[in-house]
Amino acid sequence: MKAVLLKNFGGPENMFLGEAEKPQAKTDEILIRVYASSVNRPDIVQRQGNYQPPPGDSEILGLEVAGVVEALGEGATRWQVGDRVMALIGGGGYAEYATAHQDHAMGIPIEMSFEEAACICETYLTAFLNVFMLGKLTNGQTALLHGGGGGVNSAAIQLCQYLVPDTKLIVTCSSGKVERMQSMGVDHVIDYQNSSFVEEVAKITDKKGVNVILDHLGADYLAGNMRSLSVYGRLLQIGVMSGAKAELNLAVMMVKRQQIIGSVLRARSVEEKAHIISTFDQKVGGALSNGKIAPEISHVFQFSEAADAHRMMESSQHFGKIVLKLID
Ligand SMILES: NC(=O)c1ccc[n+]([C@@H]2O[C@H](COP(=O)([O-])OP(=O)(O)OC[C@H]3O[C@@H](n4cnc5c(N)ncnc54)[C@H](OP(=O)(O)O)[C@@H]3O)[C@@H](O)[C@H]2O)c1
Repeated sequence: MKAVLLKNFGGPENMFLGEAEKPQAKTDEILIRVYASSVNRPDIVQRQGNYQPPPGDSEILGLEVAGVVEALGEGATRWQVGDRVMALIGGGGYAEYATAHQDHAMGIPIEMSFEEAACICETYLTAFLNVFMLGKLTNGQTALLHGGGGGVNSAAIQLCQYLVPDTKLIVTCSSGKVERMQSMGVDHVIDYQNSSFVEEVAKITDKKGVNVILDHLGADYLAGNMRSLSVYGRLLQIGVMSGAKAELNLAVMMVKRQQIIGSVLRARSVEEKAHIISTFDQKVGGALSNGKIAPEISHVFQFSEAADAHRMMESSQHFGKIVLKLID
């Protein structure tokens, strides 16, 4: 089968469209003919050689796919050959065929394209897991989402607007994305290049701080995040783009009864992922079907242009998701 492969770990120039062995659906798995996949930041870290797939998962890049069920593994009874599905996978999305556990797939709503469906599983599930299942954001609270023009964070904005419409949303982004961010209808946009998010959050919340922060910057933002968090606030740490080590004042954290929750989706067990997916499907599946929630797609690249797709993500020129398309 065709697949985007790596000559070596390193820059995007190492990516090329080559031939790989077609995977086989194992017990409880389905084989998917991939129509579209999408790029996530962890793909870049994996390409650089710093994020290995969990044991047993494909070494090919790609964490989410949309396509058509091609074959069923032993015991896989939830889907039929020919079903349109989108799936969360531990690896192997940048390829013509990928396997997924049957409980890690969701049906693609009739009106939804393969390109859109390729943006749901890793992206929206990460946002949903962190902001709602772990962060427990509820109506009437305030959330700070960093990098709102990114894939995960644009999904988090939409999920907040749909699930907890009375939540106050404060979003950071670079100067060039402020206008587009405002058009998403968030309450406050902070241009992190020209202002301090800590000072802005203090002004907006009358120094009370926010209940939930979704952060992927890590080290450089830790002190500011802790200062921006309310009493009983929850900081969800999903990435470390600015570094992984930083100093923390545990006494302040203790007195303010705050929590820092670290989370990755990929390393979780089959059962945990299945639970997250079924909870998401129950709460958000309807909104995906009726179009109330649809991913912000920034650019669509062919599989043969995967290196350019990575270059675009690394330059942060995109707003929303970058899609890789295999079949029209
Ligand atoms: N833990 C998990 O399970 C999990 C799963 C998936 C992804 N992730 C992590 O989530 C993060 C986002 O992934 P993604 O695929 O959505 O990537 P993405 O689309 O590239 O989003 C990252 C965003 O961060 C913004 N950004 C960069 N520097 C910033 C700063 N100093 N302050 C605020 N925003 C800044 C970028 O745009 P601007 O700077 O132009 O605003 C960009 O929009 C990554 O760190 C990734 O590793 C974690």
